[in-house]
Amino acid sequence: MEPPSVTPSKGHSSWQGTLLTVSLLLSWSPPTAAQLTLESMPRAVAEGQDVLLLNPSRAVALVYSWYKGDSIEPKDLIVSYVLDTGETTHGPAHTGREALSARGSLILHNVTLADAGTYTLHVRRTKGAPKKWTGQIHVFRKLPKPSIKSSSSNPVGDKDSVTLLCEPETQNTTSQWLINSQSLPDNSRLELSMDNRTLTIHTVTRNESGLYNCRTRNPVSSSHSDSFSLKVLYGPDTPTISPSAEHSSLGNNINLTCQAVSNSCAQYSWFINETSRQSTEQLFIPDSTVGDSGNYICRVHNPATALSRTTAKTITVSVKWLPGMASPKCLTKPSIRASNTTGIKTTGAVVFTCLTKHNGISISWFHDGERLQLTERMELSQDNSSLTINPVRVEDAGNYQCEVSNPGSANRSDSLTLTVEESLTKPSIKASNTTITENMGPVVFTCLTKHSGISISWFHDGERLRLTERMKLSQDNSSLTINPVRMEDAGNYQCDRSEGGLVVSAETIPRLVIAALVIVLLVVTLGYFLFRARTRRFLPHKVFPGDCVLSLCNHRLSPVMAPFLGEQ
Ligand SMILES: *[C@@H]1O[C@H](CO)[C@@H](O)[C@H](O)[C@H]1NC(C)=O
Ligand SMILES: *[C@@H]1O[C@H](CO)[C@@H](O)[C@H](O)[C@H]1NC(C)=O
Ligand SMILES: *[C@@H]1O[C@H](CO)[C@@H](O)[C@H](O)[C@H]1NC(C)=O
Ligand SMILES: *[C@@H]1O[C@H](CO)[C@@H](O)[C@H](O)[C@H]1NC(C)=O
Ligand SMILES: *[C@@H]1O[C@H](CO)[C@@H](O)[C@H](O)[C@H]1NC(C)=O
Ligand SMILES: *[C@@H]1O[C@H](CO)[C@@H](O)[C@H](O)[C@H]1NC(C)=O
Ligand SMILES: *[C@@H]1O[C@H](CO)[C@@H](O)[C@H](O)[C@H]1NC(C)=O
Ligand SMILES: *[C@@H]1O[C@H](CO)[C@@H](O)[C@H](O)[C@H]1NC(C)=O
Ligand SMILES: *[C@@H]1O[C@H](CO)[C@@H](O)[C@H](O)[C@H]1NC(C)=O
Ligand SMILES: *[C@@H]1O[C@H](CO)[C@@H](O)[C@H](O)[C@H]1NC(C)=O
Ligand SMILES: *[C@@H]1O[C@H](CO)[C@@H](O)[C@H](O)[C@H]1NC(C)=O
Repeated sequence: MEPPSVTPSKGHSSWQGTLLTVSLLLSWSPPTAAQLTLESMPRAVAEGQDVLLLNPSRAVALVYSWYKGDSIEPKDLIVSYVLDTGETTHGPAHTGREALSARGSLILHNVTLADAGTYTLHVRRTKGAPKKWTGQIHVFRKLPKPSIKSSSSNPVGDKDSVTLLCEPETQNTTSQWLINSQSLPDNSRLELSMDNRTLTIHTVTRNESGLYNCRTRNPVSSSHSDSFSLKVLYGPDTPTISPSAEHSSLGNNINLTCQAVSNSCAQYSWFINETSRQSTEQLFIPDSTVGDSGNYICRVHNPATALSRTTAKTITVSVKWLPGMASPKCLTKPSIRASNTTGIKTTGAVVFTCLTKHNGISISWFHDGERLQLTERMELSQDNSSLTINPVRVEDAGNYQCEVSNPGSANRSDSLTLTVEESLTKPSIKASNTTITENMGPVVFTCLTKHSGISISWFHDGERLRLTERMKLSQDNSSLTINPVRMEDAGNYQCDRSEGGLVVSAETIPRLVIAALVIVLLVVTLGYFLFRARTRRFLPHKVFPGDCVLSLCNHRLSPVMAPFLGEQ
């Protein structure tokens, strides 16, 4: 701006003129730097852009000269323009990117950082002294994308400090930090450097975990770093053991879960009474016994922080159900199997097996509803799950059951019926003579059997022997003496045995042939017949010559045999 020229106005009173002059004098001040300052368009220019230094002079000038710097030395001349001739002169400071506008403003194309600085415009006018303006061009780089450099990406909480640096360093740039897209919280442990490029977190905690960004800004640009993820390692915190119950009833599963907050992942281990058990979060003890009571300790270790924490819990396994405990375990029904259940001969063996899915329970055996009395022929496996009877006897027949039990509950299997058939050895008959002359004698028949205490009766040609005065039986009927022998004595002889209410019929008939004076001993086969024990009746079987009939009655057998008897 040019200083106003003072010209007294015509037709005004002198006091008025004086007043105006004073006022004008007061308002006029000598040219200041501000008044002679060049302005640039834009005020801040980014590298590569164009900028215009405005010519502030409105008066008609003779010569415009632009200089780099604040002097008007010829060596600093960029360009000058002579109005009269229209001549443009490039000076030594001309880079090839400068040009003059029609109004005398200086245009700088494709500005570089080196273009920043002071410029001077010198104007020679037709009237008055030449005038000089100076001004600045501020050139800024477009900011590159900053990046974050950390002293540690996995600092240990409550221990380490972390320094985050926003790079690269650029002049005349402000930096700002964001945590999870929010500006920095008010936290005495967060410290910024003077230029805000460095963020220090003193004794970092888990709460400072998150995404960090740095933002840079200068008058021509602003830029954002990628997120930096700060993962603070911490923990483990004191673990918790669930469920919280301290009592378990016998036979229940103990299933404990240990949990602790930890970064990175914690390692779990379980101890019972100081003895290491499992290295998992979960501790599982099926079918607990009283011996599983103890001090249960869960230890949690974070290898990243090298810290460990433990929690202990006393667990009592009780035989009795106590309030607050899970209800006693319900035992499901076991099943029973046998190697063989029917047609077992008394010489054979049978193995019963009790099948249950439970562990740690007791197994007991029942015979016809009563607790099995073990005999020397019976053997139980270690855990009582199998019962071997060897050899089987007739009295072993009946219904078998096994029962699983714990102090809280019991469950008995369905019954399995064992039938037993007596295996009798074939009785035999011996005759002193098989051929004999009539009226000679004696002939002695002997009934041979391994079984004792059985009654023996004799048959002749399939019919019960009618004793005559010539015949004599021994005390136990085991031998028959005929003396003297007559023709009518010839034929087949059988010896029978009977015992108690049952009749044991045995066999063997040597044929006494007197006509030919020959007694033929026939070899006989042996058959087995069952009979009805309840009625204690001999089975109505015909005893054929040469047959051996054995029958037994046993009160144990009776219910077992009932179904078979009906078929007879
Ligand atoms: C601007 O200058 C740079 C070097 O300073 C050059 O590479 C670029 O081509 C120039 N751009 C223009 C539009 O002249
Ligand atoms: C840029 O920074 C430099 C050095 O720190 C300084 O001399 C200059 O004046 C600054 N420019 C601006 C535009 O702030
Ligand atoms: C640093 O940032 C604070 C606010 O976070 C701001 O007040 C201050 O001016 C900044 N300093 C610099 C040098 O950028
Ligand atoms: C983390 O922040 C939570 C909630 O703001 C606070 O309760 C807790 O004490 C803090 N933890 C630490 C280690 O500073
Ligand atoms: C133990 O309990 C957990 C939950 O509390 C369950 O997920 C898991 O299946 C249980 N384990 C067994 C073997 O029952
Ligand atoms: C733990 O110790 C107690 C007391 O000595 C004992 O009764 C219990 O059986 C022990 N438990 C285990 C699982 O060893
Ligand atoms: C025995 O187990 C069966 C299922 O196998 C169940 O239905 C029954 O209730 C149980 N009985 C007892 C007395 O626990
Ligand atoms: C079971 O009995 C049957 C018939 O008496 C017999 O054939 C089989 O060999 C027996 N099996 C066993 C395992 O004793
Ligand atoms: C096996 O059975 C016998 C009696 O039959 C009993 O005394 C014993 O305790 C049982 N053993 C087991 C492990 O159940
Ligand atoms: C058969 O009987 C006669 C007379 O009774 C006797 O002398 C003879 O020794 C007997 N024979 C045999 C083989 O026992
Ligand atoms: C011997 O047999 C007779 C008839 O055959 C009979 O009456 C008697 O009871 C039997 N004696 C013995 C001990 O079996």
